[in-house]
Amino acid sequence: MIFGRIKSLDAILATAEKKSLSRTLGPVQLTLLGVGAIIGTGIFVLTAAAAQKAGPGMMLSFIIAGAVCAVAALCYSELASMVPVSGSAYTYTYAVVGELLAWMVGWALILEYAVAASAVSVGWSGYFMGLLKSVTGLQLPGVLSAGPVWTMNGWIPHADFSTGIINVPAIIVALGVTWLLMIGTTESARVNAVLVAIKVTALTIFIALTLPVLKTGEFSPFTPNGWFGPEHTSGMGVVGAAASIFFAYVGFDAVSTAAEETKNPQRNVPIGLIGSLAICTVFYLLVAAGAVGAIGAQPVIGADGLAVAPGSAGFVAACALAENADRLVCSNEALAHVLRMINWPMMGNALGLAANLALPSVILMMMFGQTRIFFVMARDGLLPEKLASIHPKWKTPHVVTAITGVGVAIAAALLPVGQLADISNSGTLFAFFMVAIAVLVLRVKDPSRRRPFRTPVVWLVAPLAIVGCIFLYFNLPVDAMLVLPLWGGLGLVIYFAYGYRKSHVGRGLVEVNEAEVSSIAPNPPPGAA
Ligand code: ALA
Repeated sequence: MIFGRIKSLDAILATAEKKSLSRTLGPVQLTLLGVGAIIGTGIFVLTAAAAQKAGPGMMLSFIIAGAVCAVAALCYSELASMVPVSGSAYTYTYAVVGELLAWMVGWALILEYAVAASAVSVGWSGYFMGLLKSVTGLQLPGVLSAGPVWTMNGWIPHADFSTGIINVPAIIVALGVTWLLMIGTTESARVNAVLVAIKVTALTIFIALTLPVLKTGEFSPFTPNGWFGPEHTSGMGVVGAAASIFFAYVGFDAVSTAAEETKNPQRNVPIGLIGSLAICTVFYLLVAAGAVGAIGAQPVIGADGLAVAPGSAGFVAACALAENADRLVCSNEALAHVLRMINWPMMGNALGLAANLALPSVILMMMFGQTRIFFVMARDGLLPEKLASIHPKWKTPHVVTAITGVGVAIAAALLPVGQLADISNSGTLFAFFMVAIAVLVLRVKDPSRRRPFRTPVVWLVAPLAIVGCIFLYFNLPVDAMLVLPLWGGLGLVIYFAYGYRKSHVGRGLVEVNEAEVSSIAPNPPPGAA
């Protein structure tokens, strides 16, 4: 019976005991690790798309998305403290609700991690080109600096190449990071701390320069597109913006993947998860207020008089009009643009430079997370173990890293940042949803197991996380929403064609394989060493 394939929690914990990665991370480093993974394209770039969807009301969107992440983080914390091993949501679900759903979660995590890496690569590209233009006056031809605009023609995707063909800088940064991961670079804790400091300083300067010039008039109308968009357009309005800007918070779960390298994980992992989320929420709200108040955040309007969806052909056309050129919503480098507009051009460039320096570490973190998930799935027999083979000299899983990197680069080359972020969100929301369910199932099935961190008022918090994830999912643009079932269907086909037969749990090989784990995951996560 397929739902009976549950990996015993004790076997998983025994693995963690056997693995002797040294436990070096404390609560501060862990929080920094979280902040390092969280702050990225979401705030630096997608603020513009959120403004197009919600206007100044995007501040509410940040609060809604942050609230859903907060309840999800409380659920993550309980499982991460009970099962402090690699694999995050995938491992938890394997132990609680069994192999099939664990596979589906692992499969959805590919959307979260790999597609997020693509989105951040495209975000980096926007900042890179803005900086290049601002400092040298040089501009890459449009066809080489953006992917096409995609629309759905019924069920058939249609690409419009009039605005761009391929995003070359995004490909370069994605492959560059892949190369670093292949040769075994994992960012050291010190480098991570420096990059976090750069990002936090850049955002602090942004807040300090924008809040004093804030004009209250810019906040009205506050919600020009209402809660659900003009005529309930898919993915628009305050709630649609919340579903998209959710991306800005993705990454806090990276903290749980470092559980095996953490001192006193029972205490420190929850601190790292919740602490990093809290810090980022405060920054995001202040940055959003500063951006809106400094230059305004009203959406551009299409030919039909309604706000157009960011990234659509109508949006590109509206932003091409000279009168809209300086609007926040049309910028590919939202925060740097705001500073330039309020007469701080050098500071705008400095912020652009900070984004260019710091965003690759988010890409690295996401791609590392992806290879870890592939690892754990391959060691469980659900993916071919060859994928996780280790390079003799570099001691890294070069095959799976290269495959991941090429996939990330292709998606980054051909899709706009907003669409990639929305697709990533659909996978992440599914994973968070499953984690919240797993917490409740485990409370019922195994109530006496030690829970070093207990989710407070779990019967309220976990259902809120479940409902919040469903709510945001159904407010994503339709095409991003459709990706999850299509991707899930493909995942099911692969599971029944391969994983179901090869699964180590299914074949009773758990113990043998568990012992091998320590030899295939030699590197600590980025920022952890
Ligand atoms: N939260 C990360 C970002 O915004 C993924 O780039």
